[in-house]
Amino acid sequence: MEYIGLDIGFGFTKVTNGNESKVFKSVVGEANEIQFQDSLIKAVGGDGPVLHAEIEGSTYFLGELAERQSAVRSFTLDQNQLMSRYAKTLALTALANIVEDGNAIRVVTGLPINAYRRHKDDLAQLLMGKHCVRLTNVVGEEREVNFTIDRVRVIPQPFGSVFNLMLNDLGKVTDRRFLEEKVGIIDVGFRTADYTICDRTQYSERGSRTSDAGISQAFKIIAGALQEKSGVNVELYRLYEAVERGSIKIRGKNFGLKRITEQAMTQLAGQIASDVNGLWADDWDIDHVVITGGGGGALKTFLEPLIEGEMLAIESSTDMRLNNVFGYRKYAAHLWDRAGQPQAAPEAGAEEATG
Ligand SMILES: Nc1ncnc2c1ncn2[C@@H]1O[C@H](COP(=O)(O)OP(=O)(O)OP(=O)(O)O)[C@@H](O)[C@H]1O
Ligand SMILES: [Mg+2]
Repeated sequence: MEYIGLDIGFGFTKVTNGNESKVFKSVVGEANEIQFQDSLIKAVGGDGPVLHAEIEGSTYFLGELAERQSAVRSFTLDQNQLMSRYAKTLALTALANIVEDGNAIRVVTGLPINAYRRHKDDLAQLLMGKHCVRLTNVVGEEREVNFTIDRVRVIPQPFGSVFNLMLNDLGKVTDRRFLEEKVGIIDVGFRTADYTICDRTQYSERGSRTSDAGISQAFKIIAGALQEKSGVNVELYRLYEAVERGSIKIRGKNFGLKRITEQAMTQLAGQIASDVNGLWADDWDIDHVVITGGGGGALKTFLEPLIEGEMLAIESSTDMRLNNVFGYRKYAAHLWDRAGQPQAAPEAGAEEATG
């Protein structure tokens, strides 16, 4: 039995089995014939995920491959659309990249707090059961991966980061602070910023909320400024690298992004801080605050000084986008691994689907 963590984010789809993890942009595109693919894309193949997949009779390009090669490609910032149109394709491609052919697996995944009630059963249902995915790698080799998902547990997204800090790889509680402390979590993603309180491992409804203050808000400001200057409407998911680099080249001309990025990030951090300080006004007894998510990493230096309370540091060497998915995987081991010692079970208001 393999335990898998799966995080279908608006920005990136992430998956891990504890040893290996894969990340790709949550973009789904039409597959088309690529001529000379051998020489053209091999160099960027590496050990990245295989993003050409056939699922239930349809063929797709995903992530960076769709971004580069699909004439028709879509991504969404709408939760209903993400669930109904893309979640299954993103999830099964991610899983096929990490699961051994023929294996049975159990999956822990998450949803934003505001979508949790509405979508947790659909999400579990679309994952459960037998699946067959045919992957084609960059040199044209095909591989079929069959797997069965026999259990799914859906938890509120930011709890992934809590479990990642609290549990070890075997799913055992190693940081006992979380059993005794009240911890506030700020998970900044691409579309959403989720705020939650984990009060001695209990989920606090009052202290939890999803807002729109994801990194895409800052990206929209940057894209708006770019459109004004260049006339080109840059798709938001094409801005990550440019923002990281501090400049973008459009039709041969370089545009600096440092100043506008700093302005946009400062504004976003201000919004998140005022959300959180308001939401947690009555929870002045929070022991620690954790900033997590890929956006949390990008926003940290702007956000930290504005948050009331003591920060719990997360190792800055790790890719913060993976904090939730690592926690999901550890929680799966905690829930289902019989070899693990019985523990005081953390409860994340979670429900389980079994097949
Ligand atoms: N290597 C990287 N490449 C791209 N973005 C990165 C990278 N490292 C950090 N980031 C930041 O991570 C953000 C995405 O974070 P994350 O993967 O947590 O979002 P998500 O989970 O997909 O979104 P949501 O939680 O809203 O569904 C990007 O907006 C960017 O600011
Ligand atoms: Mg996320």
